[in-house]
Amino acid sequence: MKDASPQPVYLSDYTPFGYLIDAVHLTFRLDPHKTRVISHIRFRPNPDSTDRRFFLHGEQLTLITASIDGQAITPEVTPQGLTCPVPDAPFIFEAEVEIAPAANTALEGLYQSGGMYCTQCEAEGFRKITYYPDRPDVMAVFTVRIEGAETVKLSNGNPTAQGEDWDEWHDPWPKPAYLFALVAGDLVAHADQFTTASGRDVTLNIWVRPGDEGKCAFGMDALKRAMLWDEQVYGLEYDLDIFNIVAVDDFNMGAMENKGLNIFNSSCVLASPDTSTDANYERIEAIIAHEYFHNWTGNRVTCRDWFQLCLKEGLTVYRDSQFTSDMRSAPVKRIADVIALRARQFREDNGPLAHPVRPSSFVEINNFYTATVYEKGAELVGMLKTLVGDAAYADALKAYFARHDGQAVTIEDWLKVFEDVTGRDLTQFKRWYTDAGTPRLTVTDSWQDGTYTLHIQQHTPATPGQPDKDARVIPIAVGLLNPNGNEVVPTTILEMTEVSQNFRFKNLSAKPVPSILRGFSAPVILERASDNAERAFLLAHDTDPFNKWESGRALGRETLMQMTLSGSAVDPAYLDALRAVLRDDSLDPAFRALAVRPPSQDDIAQSLHDAGHTPDPQAIYMATDRLGQAMAQHLADLLPELYAAMTVPGPYSPDAAAAGKRDLQALLLSLLTRLDGGSTARAQYAAADNMSQQLTALSCLMARQLGEAEHQAFHDQWRRDRLVMDKWFALSVSHARPEDAASRAVALTAHPDFNIRNPNRFRATFGALAGHAAGFHHATGKGYATLADWLIRLDPLNPQTTARMCAAFETWKRYDSARQRHARAALERILAAPHLSRDTTEMVSLILGD
Ligand code: TRP
Ligand code: ZN
Repeated sequence: MKDASPQPVYLSDYTPFGYLIDAVHLTFRLDPHKTRVISHIRFRPNPDSTDRRFFLHGEQLTLITASIDGQAITPEVTPQGLTCPVPDAPFIFEAEVEIAPAANTALEGLYQSGGMYCTQCEAEGFRKITYYPDRPDVMAVFTVRIEGAETVKLSNGNPTAQGEDWDEWHDPWPKPAYLFALVAGDLVAHADQFTTASGRDVTLNIWVRPGDEGKCAFGMDALKRAMLWDEQVYGLEYDLDIFNIVAVDDFNMGAMENKGLNIFNSSCVLASPDTSTDANYERIEAIIAHEYFHNWTGNRVTCRDWFQLCLKEGLTVYRDSQFTSDMRSAPVKRIADVIALRARQFREDNGPLAHPVRPSSFVEINNFYTATVYEKGAELVGMLKTLVGDAAYADALKAYFARHDGQAVTIEDWLKVFEDVTGRDLTQFKRWYTDAGTPRLTVTDSWQDGTYTLHIQQHTPATPGQPDKDARVIPIAVGLLNPNGNEVVPTTILEMTEVSQNFRFKNLSAKPVPSILRGFSAPVILERASDNAERAFLLAHDTDPFNKWESGRALGRETLMQMTLSGSAVDPAYLDALRAVLRDDSLDPAFRALAVRPPSQDDIAQSLHDAGHTPDPQAIYMATDRLGQAMAQHLADLLPELYAAMTVPGPYSPDAAAAGKRDLQALLLSLLTRLDGGSTARAQYAAADNMSQQLTALSCLMARQLGEAEHQAFHDQWRRDRLVMDKWFALSVSHARPEDAASRAVALTAHPDFNIRNPNRFRATFGALAGHAAGFHHATGKGYATLADWLIRLDPLNPQTTARMCAAFETWKRYDSARQRHARAALERILAAPHLSRDTTEMVSLILGD
């Protein structure tokens, strides 16, 4: 039920809970329609609190009985929870409640997916399982008994006892309720084993539905590599006898780090060469590592309250990106991360949903699992490391775990460790956590008597609720090249702390060319007058791989902006630069693919908007197409030979080198398909023995409206594989012509395999529409209206996924007034839907901003 006006929660209102929990015993009697949950909780007054109100969260529960110290009670129950008088001494609270997992379409709390029982408790889902202080600073030791006919019954910790139709689990590590998990079903395990550095033998299992056993090997290998890496790089070991991963088809996000029992969206763990692309493999490896790394950054040291979410998420994303850099190519990972950061986080930070990495208020915490908290949060950890240095970072992390193991802490605690270890004052650095918005750096330079000066100014635009921003400390990595292309000043970190500052480099023989913000040393927007000649020079000569790529990207962006605005032809200097990159065999193919692939249409729309223009999505779409055509023609002589050279011999392997070649080959194939009527792509489709190449070929054909037969064949071949069919649904929309994208998505909802209750399928279909820039922002408004129609249908079933997908509208104010009218009408229609969830109400209200 929707509140009249949902009330925000404020960070400044935090108070500790009045009671501590010594032990929790839960018994589950599983049943699809009436599962009984019997709780036995040992409370005692919290000596650090004088608050003696006793309130337990509980939502959508049917209370059967409750007692205190064995005496039946009749608590006061509201839709939010329960309260009752309690003794001013230790006591035992017991309750029995009934819940209906089969009816739970929100996929939060205990629910069923493909006949299997599973849970999702972060952030506030445990309250849909039983009455409990559902807040991360209340930590307890759990014992769980599961009764049911299912062959496999799992919970957190170690298995301790078992009977005919029951299993008991005990987790010795105190944890908040959001890390609770339960799984039960007729599952099969892919099992393995790991011995920790100190000699603990750990059983590893990936549990899947029968039929998926063959898709676990890669995930298991990634898990073992992550466990070893965390020991070697952070000195952190696993701390239970067993580590379980379960694959679930219906899941709102990617995966969840429940203690000892990680639950995964099956798309983020199941992999096989036939069904998974190279990008899928890389993502699976990263997510398995991410959830595993949470065992220390999140579980052993957790968050005091949900405002501190970045404490665990920013740090864990940072750690998983370090892991991927070590497993694969560090420069390629950095470039890919920055592309994603700009596409998602900068977009968020520059629109109505902008919020600080550590927000100070929210209505629905599920709406704050954002690119800002995760990805910008990770950037802050990286900046901190740059500022204090690698050795001090390592010391600070050791001190953090030593000091806060077993605690629920804050960003202040995190920064204090760095201050204590380094002696540095991080007051100014903390603004990165509390202030929203992406800083702009305006750079000019001057040259006199052998001294080169960079003049840098910083400014952060206003964001909702934060009109003025103070200067931040910004680590700016700079190198200087002399005019013949040699580096004269290697990478140096400039520490900017003022609004405006000059940085001098002395004793130079000629005016250098600066390479600024190397490695993307801070999440800022660099504004500096430059020309294509200088960009091409840096693309050719910069020693910093990130900035080398960045120069190529700037050239591409500039080119596409000009082509969009004036309908002009492509700057031949750009095409020559691309040719040089493509032919440079000293460059990693993955890097070449990144350097040659033009910026996305959404990137161009944002860039045009930043430059004071009103972007026309249709014009951007057509300019992008013209650029593709010009690239194909200009590079025609190179394409067949280079395409052949990127063929990877032998059986499929998902390693970075092979994946990089296939990625470059995919780019080349998309150009070739513009010239050869699709013959090369058809041949690749027919010969492909792996999903990467099959999907690449299909996608190149469909982009040219050539792939009818293959599109049907793909459908028929993969009809019974859910994860591959998600690709088919997505591709069917993403390659539609702009005017057809919305109707294509709607037509797909009539397909027998469309299922509005499955978030992967819904996202495949309507996420593809939202990602089709010219289709979603079509001048008729049908993109907006269609997405609104389907979000209105999804909201009563699954508010979390609905609210997340509303972010498609966050850029609506970039566009012309006619489009804005269409977008506003769609948003207002969502807001007017009867019984709209709190999640979606908050998102749409923020996006409308009035
Ligand atoms: N903590 C999870 C992660 O890192 C993400 C998460 C939060 C989540 N809420 C969720 C996952 C709800 C699934 C459903 O990665
Ligand atoms: Zn996480």
